[in-house]
Amino acid sequence: MYLQKISLANFKSYDYESFEFSKRVNCVVGENGSGKTNLLDAIYFLALTKSSISNQDALAINHEAEYMMIEGFFSMFEVQDSKFGNNEIGTGKETQHQVSNNEQLITISLQRGQKKAVLRDKKAYERISEHIGKFPVVMLSPNDTDVIRDGSEERRKFFDGVMAQLDSEYLENLLQYNRLLLQRNSLLKQFSERNYVDDLLLDIYSDPLVEVAIKLHQAREQFVTEFLPLFKKHYATLSDAREDVEMIYESEVGAENFTQIFRRNRQRDLAAQRTTMGVHKDDFAFEINGFTLRKFGSQGQQKSFVIALKLAQFEMLSQQKGFPPILLLDDIFDKLDDRRIQQLITMMVDGTFSQVFITDARPERTRQLLNNLGVEVKYFEIKK
Ligand SMILES: Nc1ncnc2c1ncn2[C@@H]1O[C@H](COP(=O)(O)OP(=O)(O)OP(=O)(O)O)[C@@H](O)[C@H]1O
Ligand SMILES: [Mg+2]
Repeated sequence: MYLQKISLANFKSYDYESFEFSKRVNCVVGENGSGKTNLLDAIYFLALTKSSISNQDALAINHEAEYMMIEGFFSMFEVQDSKFGNNEIGTGKETQHQVSNNEQLITISLQRGQKKAVLRDKKAYERISEHIGKFPVVMLSPNDTDVIRDGSEERRKFFDGVMAQLDSEYLENLLQYNRLLLQRNSLLKQFSERNYVDDLLLDIYSDPLVEVAIKLHQAREQFVTEFLPLFKKHYATLSDAREDVEMIYESEVGAENFTQIFRRNRQRDLAAQRTTMGVHKDDFAFEINGFTLRKFGSQGQQKSFVIALKLAQFEMLSQQKGFPPILLLDDIFDKLDDRRIQQLITMMVDGTFSQVFITDARPERTRQLLNNLGVEVKYFEIKK
């Protein structure tokens, strides 16, 4: 699967623009603030129906416009490892676009103040969530270390994102859990404000919430078992493999009598006016040689850790889907040392990565790194 073409209308800094991509390596170059990250974000948006940067969809609409639209043609063929070696500039030479049965047209549009629409081959999905995982994508960006430095919410968000692309049932359960949680919390708030509790009504929300929490917990536990060995392998390759890294899933929901514990916690929930136990409190502890990574990991170790997380995500998606995801590499040459850059380039050349998008504010550097690798590279120069 790869993205052949994208058309943008009023997406962030773009007004109307189209790009035809290589099925291998695409290099997006241009000055700071020219819109390189925005283009990667549009691809991410197309695949996952949201921005990689903000939860507020409306921020993707150009300041001067009332709506935005992203349209993309995905080719569902598996990409053969094409070794063309001739580098093209992304202007003028584009081939005529031809529609065939193996293409899928995805359209996402958003009008200010309205809900976004996601269409596949011009038909709306019954639920937008059905789209997630069909066009898998993995992104490496300068903000990745937030997952180490920030609170548990950032880590849950990351792993939920990883699991949502792998497992549609997980995503459905997660969405249901969040709905039930919101309803139960507003009920707790009402009871507390009115100084009155209807236990039966509260049960109507609590029982299914606990049921879904247990399912999500089991899925997270299972996921970590499969993810951890891949993660450790990639960490070892990126670093000198001297440190022992761990990722420990922490959750109260795993307790054998969680249902009773949750019930007994009701007074505390009423006092707090929200649900104080559940998978929305889970965390994933990151450790290096037995110590907290955030506190004791060097910058280089933290960097290797997040890249290993992404590479493990990439490998798990490849295995599960039977084809490699699209890889978005935002500004990595700026942030990585030669050893790690070489590691990623090797994976580009040996066909582990298939379609790749790279941004760089310094085109000469990218050309130097990517030329003569025997991989098809197409350059796109973005102007303000
Ligand atoms: N909704 C929007 N409407 C108009 N412009 C926007 C919108 N959102 C972001 N921008 C603009 O997009 C520009 C940033 O683009 P982007 O982050 O893609 O730059 P970049 O090429 O990646 O730069 P850098 O090299 O610094 O990473 C900013 O000038 C910002 O004001
Ligand atoms: Mg950028």
